[in-house]
Amino acid sequence: MDLELKGKTAIVTGGSRGIGRAIARELAASGCSVVILARNEETLKRTAEELSRETGALVTGIVTDVTDSAAVEKSVKHAADALGGRIDILVNNAAAPGGLASGPIAEIDEKDLAADLDTKVIGYVRFARAVAPHMKKNGWGRIVNIGGNSSRAPGANLSAGMRNAALVPMTKSLADELGPAGVTVNVVHPGATWTERSEPMYAKRAEREGVSIDQLKARAAEGNAIKRIVDAREVAWVVAFLASPRSSAITGEVISASGGAGASVYY
Ligand SMILES: NC(=O)c1ccc[n+]([C@@H]2O[C@H](COP(=O)([O-])OP(=O)(O)OC[C@H]3O[C@@H](n4cnc5c(N)ncnc54)[C@H](OP(=O)(O)O)[C@@H]3O)[C@@H](O)[C@H]2O)c1
Repeated sequence: MDLELKGKTAIVTGGSRGIGRAIARELAASGCSVVILARNEETLKRTAEELSRETGALVTGIVTDVTDSAAVEKSVKHAADALGGRIDILVNNAAAPGGLASGPIAEIDEKDLAADLDTKVIGYVRFARAVAPHMKKNGWGRIVNIGGNSSRAPGANLSAGMRNAALVPMTKSLADELGPAGVTVNVVHPGATWTERSEPMYAKRAEREGVSIDQLKARAAEGNAIKRIVDAREVAWVVAFLASPRSSAITGEVISASGGAGASVYY
């Protein structure tokens, strides 16, 4: 199936590393011009250059902190200029994976909790608000919000589940508001996902626990149905579909790209 993404334009927040990078790469490889945003200029520049080289697409990096409303407005204007005046797709993804506020409640710093919500929930709203006029003007748009399976199984990690769950009603509200203008809004929940930071992270843990990396990987995969850790590229495939014209019947929905994590079903 041709996803009909050729010639579309996209913004991917947190596109310099990890899942965001894989999404930006997939969209660029599918024929989109892409703007990636993050705070660290060096990584952003390197990733934009690498993705442009690998895919032949226009990939531009714009330094932005998603917690700064004025910077978000400014960067969306810059992005529109870089993308020839049109913004078709927004992938909201920037956040610290797992969040800053984890551990027992007695040790939670309120400032970390507020920062997690400011980045992942309000940050996503800031970007949706800034791109909505562009999408409404064109009568077409796709917004994909990257959540996380911790919204379904939060465990002891206080802020990760909270912020991912908050994205769900926010997404439905935006889907209802923007639907008549041809804009769809959906959530993709990754579960434990293999990115470039996984190898060193698993190596350190394996050494600490006196086990092999493969044993740790098998343990991490026990909780899903496919019994292996999902790769960031597999999450990117789901996002590329939702970002494409072919997903026109889906909006306000949540799709878990976790390889079937957890024992519950969701009606
Ligand atoms: N990896 C997983 O297993 C997993 C599982 C479930 C959900 N998720 C979700 O997937 C998303 C991506 O996770 P990841 O593992 O790919 O993370 P990652 O490798 O740490 O990448 C995070 C990206 O977001 C950017 N970022 C973070 N805070 C930002 C801010 N305030 N302003 C602008 N950019 C910011 C980072 O760049 P700078 O630091 O340079 O700003 C980087 O580009 C997150 O929403 C995460 O919660 C991940």
